[in-house]
Amino acid sequence: MKLNLKSLSCYSLGFILFPFIAYSQANQHAVQNKFNSTSSNKVKNEQGLYNQNENDIERKINELLSKMTLQEKIGQLNQHAGADKEAEELIKKGEIGSFLGVSGAENVNKLQELAVKKSRLGIPLIFGEDVIHGYHTTFPIPLAEASSWDPELVKEACGIAAIEAASEGINWTFAPMVDIARDPRWGRIAEGSGEDPFLGSAFASAEVKGFQGENLSDKKSIAACAKHYVAYGAAEAGRDYNTVDISERTLREIYLPPFKAAVDAGVATLMSAFNSLNGVPASANYFTLTKILKDEWGFKGFVVSDYNAIGELVNHEIAANKSEAALKAFTAGVDMDMVGDTIEGDIYHPYLAKLVKEGKVQLEQIDESVRRILRIKYELGLFDHPYVDKSYFEKNMPSQKYRDSIALRLSEESLVLLKNENKILPLKRNIKSIAVIGPLADDHKDPLGPWACAPDSNNVVTVLNGIKNLVSKDTKINFAKGCEINDTDESNFEDAIRIAKQSDVAVLVVGESSDMSGEASSRADIDVPGMQQELVKRIYEAGVPVIVILMNGRPLTINWISQNANAIIESWFLGDQAGNAIANVLFGYYNPSGKLPVTFPRSVGQIPIYYNHLNTGRPPENDNRYTSKYLDLPVTPLYPFGFGLSYTNFSYSDLKIDKNEISDKDSLIVTAKITNSGNTAGDEIVQLYTHDHYADVSPPVKELKGFKRVYLNPGESKLVKFIIKPAMLAFYNIKMKKVIEPGVYDVMVGKNSDDYLTTSFEIKN
Ligand code: BGC
Repeated sequence: MKLNLKSLSCYSLGFILFPFIAYSQANQHAVQNKFNSTSSNKVKNEQGLYNQNENDIERKINELLSKMTLQEKIGQLNQHAGADKEAEELIKKGEIGSFLGVSGAENVNKLQELAVKKSRLGIPLIFGEDVIHGYHTTFPIPLAEASSWDPELVKEACGIAAIEAASEGINWTFAPMVDIARDPRWGRIAEGSGEDPFLGSAFASAEVKGFQGENLSDKKSIAACAKHYVAYGAAEAGRDYNTVDISERTLREIYLPPFKAAVDAGVATLMSAFNSLNGVPASANYFTLTKILKDEWGFKGFVVSDYNAIGELVNHEIAANKSEAALKAFTAGVDMDMVGDTIEGDIYHPYLAKLVKEGKVQLEQIDESVRRILRIKYELGLFDHPYVDKSYFEKNMPSQKYRDSIALRLSEESLVLLKNENKILPLKRNIKSIAVIGPLADDHKDPLGPWACAPDSNNVVTVLNGIKNLVSKDTKINFAKGCEINDTDESNFEDAIRIAKQSDVAVLVVGESSDMSGEASSRADIDVPGMQQELVKRIYEAGVPVIVILMNGRPLTINWISQNANAIIESWFLGDQAGNAIANVLFGYYNPSGKLPVTFPRSVGQIPIYYNHLNTGRPPENDNRYTSKYLDLPVTPLYPFGFGLSYTNFSYSDLKIDKNEISDKDSLIVTAKITNSGNTAGDEIVQLYTHDHYADVSPPVKELKGFKRVYLNPGESKLVKFIIKPAMLAFYNIKMKKVIEPGVYDVMVGKNSDDYLTTSFEIKN
């Protein structure tokens, strides 16, 4: 079956693919299937998952494998997109193991019933979907969530997404996206946690735990999938799907750590990426898929290819035809074929059996991949409860109120205050009039962001409505759109200028449409699109104080706005609660605490720009031309990594370490005093960085090694403590061995990657 599902949201798929199939209601209660698991003995496996007794599962897998034909085994490696009559016949023959793009309890149960009751061995299907930042409840996009620096809260949001998705028959999400991205032209920067491997690893781990819960076999848990393995975010020139050429050191220091963190957190699956990596496509890369992931890290789950990535090996020109593509992907370590080829259909399904017969693929290799997939199906409890149990979800679904309140809290924490001249914010609650202007000000769709899964845009609170909900009856709200997001028409400016002049303040909501970031959404120019900046200028020229709310999926180049607007709030795409969160911040009901998980450049010419770069032989000096810099622009970013303001001031003092020297087996306690020296209570995200003075290979100028959120009342001080263990300072030396080198290290504790206190210590042999 050849379907291009990429333009459909996952919500629409269930409706589009199913009307032509007359499905009856499947049995809602778990039925005995032929290989029903009986053990209730739960143990924690090596990767931290609480599962049924491992030996019990392995025994069942062996038993099942011994009964499977080659065609049935290959069926388990085959993921189908959408369902039709042809797919139903394949299910009955045991030749489909998984679906993508099928949801809704009835649709899923119907297909599952065919697999469990009508196929020879009754092996259940696994249903995958892109549950990226919520399912029915839409949370902030991942880049926004990362701005909260609150992995625990994001874990909770993932738990809610999991139960909502599970109630619609989804067993497996293609998330978290853990690609490090240093290039904001790349639209998929929106889907990940930004530029830093330490922060990215913290979110990778939390998201996996959130989706998978305490026990994968719990009905409210779904399997996670760390993607896109690996280095997809390093696409040359920020152009999606483009070539990646990086050193093994950069791969191991920057791009691999979040995947390792996901594996350590027990992630069930990984997705192999589209990009080529140092000349070898990631979906045919034995070094990363088998040597590192399966051998070095001992990953026991399975790898699914990205959509059509196996077929694309022909375009990469490493495979002469589809058969060779199947051979290369499979022997490199891709266990499951997602969609195969959008034109010709499945690839593993038609080609693998032939490759086995020709002796090019060993049966043991097929068994190994099938084993991995069956293991996850057992761990998910699919053999015990293959169907969506509606009554369970009726009883166990968290209340809508609770889901909304987590979404609101996360949205508030995700907002980053970039500028607040003369403390114009928060606005007075009894302000007389406000002009709310901009194409995104009353927009119900775009705040959902890319990859909103099954949203209801009626649930989206717009900024205009959020403000209306908060202000008193006496505050006059004037609204004008001003222009569209991305056009050249100024004809509605006049209306916007007129209402601005009648108001005490103008709140301008500008930015990108949701489809300008996400997959296949690279931009060569990352200015605020269309006429929107011109609109901001004209309102500013009208002499009205200007507050800019940005909605966007990537850092934008906002030099003029940064210099001239009175206040700027980066809101990213916040999902359902966008307007409530933004209004709460505008009026001081929430004191902003978010910090940037990614550097904001001044110009695309500075890209890639990131805080943890290496030094050069000629670090930039103002009065020395022959140093590493630009003639036409400072080297510094517009806003550094970790930056974000508050309505109060936090001052840092008394940075102390408990020892000046340690051995590589000791640890060190770092303390710093943080004081709220302003008048408003609030949270500060305290950041710990280190820097190796001198090493075998050039060390980064600084690296994030810890962070803590502290709440302080006005005048209150707290001592924040971090522990540094030398293992945290290990790096890959010239021989690509991970080592802790003796020597002097700087310790920096501060507000962001550019504003901190420093001390140092030494590791002695
Ligand atoms: C994307 C993946 C996604 C998959 C399934 C691909 O095009 O790159 O991130 O999980 O489609 O929808």
